[in-house]
Amino acid sequence: MNHQYRSSTAHYVESVPAPAAETLHDPEEVLSILFDPIRRGPLYPYYNRLRELDPVYNTRHEALHGGRPCWVLTSYRAGYEAFTHPSMTSDGRTVMAYDSGEGGKRFLNIMKRVLLFLEPTDHARVRKMVSKTFMRRNVEEFRPFVAETIDYLLDNMEREGCADIVSDYANPLPITMIFRIFGMPLEDLPLIERWMKDFARRGELGKISPEVEHGGEEAAKGFSDYFRKQIADRRARPRDDVISTFVQARDDDGNHLTDDELIAMCVLIFMAGHESTSNMIAFNTFSLLRNPDQLRLLQGNPGIIEDGIDELIRYDASVHVAQRVGLKDVVVAGREIPAGEPCLIMQGAANHDPEQYDRPDRLDLTRGKVQHLVFGLGSHSCLGNQLAKLELRLAIPALVQRFPGIYLTVPQSDVRSCNTGLLLRHLKDLPVSW
Ligand code: HEM
Repeated sequence: MNHQYRSSTAHYVESVPAPAAETLHDPEEVLSILFDPIRRGPLYPYYNRLRELDPVYNTRHEALHGGRPCWVLTSYRAGYEAFTHPSMTSDGRTVMAYDSGEGGKRFLNIMKRVLLFLEPTDHARVRKMVSKTFMRRNVEEFRPFVAETIDYLLDNMEREGCADIVSDYANPLPITMIFRIFGMPLEDLPLIERWMKDFARRGELGKISPEVEHGGEEAAKGFSDYFRKQIADRRARPRDDVISTFVQARDDDGNHLTDDELIAMCVLIFMAGHESTSNMIAFNTFSLLRNPDQLRLLQGNPGIIEDGIDELIRYDASVHVAQRVGLKDVVVAGREIPAGEPCLIMQGAANHDPEQYDRPDRLDLTRGKVQHLVFGLGSHSCLGNQLAKLELRLAIPALVQRFPGIYLTVPQSDVRSCNTGLLLRHLKDLPVSW
């Protein structure tokens, strides 16, 4: 159980509260609040306000792309069109948002090789080589192990009588899964966790401090050295694990992935696969605790999670921003966006667009099949979404079934104020009892 809760919120209590969203009339002011982790509180009122003021907003905000022109998309239509437009890409130009100069080059070198930021031809080649592993029918093989890990974690929590969902449940599950499918020894966990934390902080949008930049460099070096050894080991002695599958993958011409591509792929799976899923388990649980009618509905009908998971994900997700850039001038939601100007697709805002969803700010697990933008769309859509959904579909009902009287032991508003980034949002802790 994590007892840091009070001290972690003190900082927010002392900071000056942001003005109410509806009192703002300048989109720049709204952006300044959204991209300031200290002033930022609840996000959705500010998303809604920005969408009302200008759903395809052109800015030179200093926290975004170093003050160069960029676009902030907050409507569902704009997000959908940007994700699926054939001339909108997520390539090397968007990764340059992370260029902090000589002092940050190790981090940038990994990011440039990450699937998300590869040029279309390289992207198609690499994605084809690794995608089979993450298809729904293949990830089903992991089901027994996910269920076993969930039971183990719930047993531990039950013995304690209270728990922090973040550290006792949401964090250990996806990371244990990735260690297991990668065939890595669990004693390396503390090391990897430290690198993941520093890498994620460096990867956020907005200003970064020298300390964050340094942490990113250390993490990039740690990851590179570590995975280089794992890769060499699998080449020498292939096993039944995902790293071996990646090492053995060949494209149509018989070429394999280079060491640097493999390292970037492993880092991406850890970052994308662990953090986002772990944070999602915490957000999904928090959403249910805030909506007791939906919690009871799920407890009475665990089967509704099959489609209901997408509503939980839409309602409040761990990932709120993706980036795209036009290879040529493109029209998005009726607005012309010049070639080369980056677009921030604010998925969190799009998923609460009243033009797309009836009463978007309401959690309704019976909405049926819900289309949302949380996993992106198009050629870069989330490779691991089936694995993530498998974990969520098992983890959320299991938790609320095991502890029928589950409740939050701190005020809701305290939990909400623990948000940090928008690319990878996380709750610092979520203390519960039952
Ligand atoms: C709930 C958890 C997850 C969320 C919310 C999430 C979200 C996303 C999003 C939004 C993208 C697209 C980004 C863009 O278009 O710029 C993405 C891409 C990706 N995700 Fe996930 N993800 C999750 C879990 C996972 C898992 C479990 C894995 C792997 C095991 C994974 C691996 C990837 C990879 C490799 C890509 C890059 C795909 C490409 O560029 O072709 N993700 N994810």
